[in-house]
Amino acid sequence: AARVPIPAGTYETMEQMQAHCNRCFRCALGQSRTNAVVSRGSMQAPIMIVGEGPGQNEDEQGKPFVGKSGQLLDKILASVNLSAEQDVFICNVVKCRPPENRTPTTDEAEACKGYLMEQIRLVNPKIILLTGATALKGLLGIKQGITKVRGQWIEQDDRLYMPIFHPAYLLRNQSRERGQPKWLMWQDIQAVKTRLD
Ligand code: URA
Repeated sequence: AARVPIPAGTYETMEQMQAHCNRCFRCALGQSRTNAVVSRGSMQAPIMIVGEGPGQNEDEQGKPFVGKSGQLLDKILASVNLSAEQDVFICNVVKCRPPENRTPTTDEAEACKGYLMEQIRLVNPKIILLTGATALKGLLGIKQGITKVRGQWIEQDDRLYMPIFHPAYLLRNQSRERGQPKWLMWQDIQAVKTRLD
């Protein structure tokens, strides 16, 4: 069925969006969530980080990346002196937790996309980091594997995008050796920091 679009200019604050999302039933994920998960971080941030969707901790707390993946993400940011509170705005492709943390469907991502577009409009970040293939596909429609494209700058509509590994992937691949995912992530976040200065 066709969905009513979310027009640009619908929101002025993340609090408004949060309130709407807590009552959103644009897709079936609305029926199983505890809390919608809109964002954390600064609306003045030059960097936006887009994840896949809330997990259990995020669903319970109503904030993105507050579990193990989020702790690692904060450490990665801190390693180049970026603070999640001041320098970064963090959100997800879908605002409600998919059951058993499955990957959101294309339809769910599509249903939720208007919220993400509003977040991009309001924050107006210089750089958007896409963590994992779901964020890359959800926002830019690019269906490539993350290993192939991570670390590459993509310029589109006057904005800079970079696909990076998802922190959950790094938790499963702990080696810091040269060429391994954690080492590559370190290269990528340094390139981001350099681009910002
Ligand atoms: N993984 C994500 O992609 N997003 C979150 O908010 C938490 C874990």
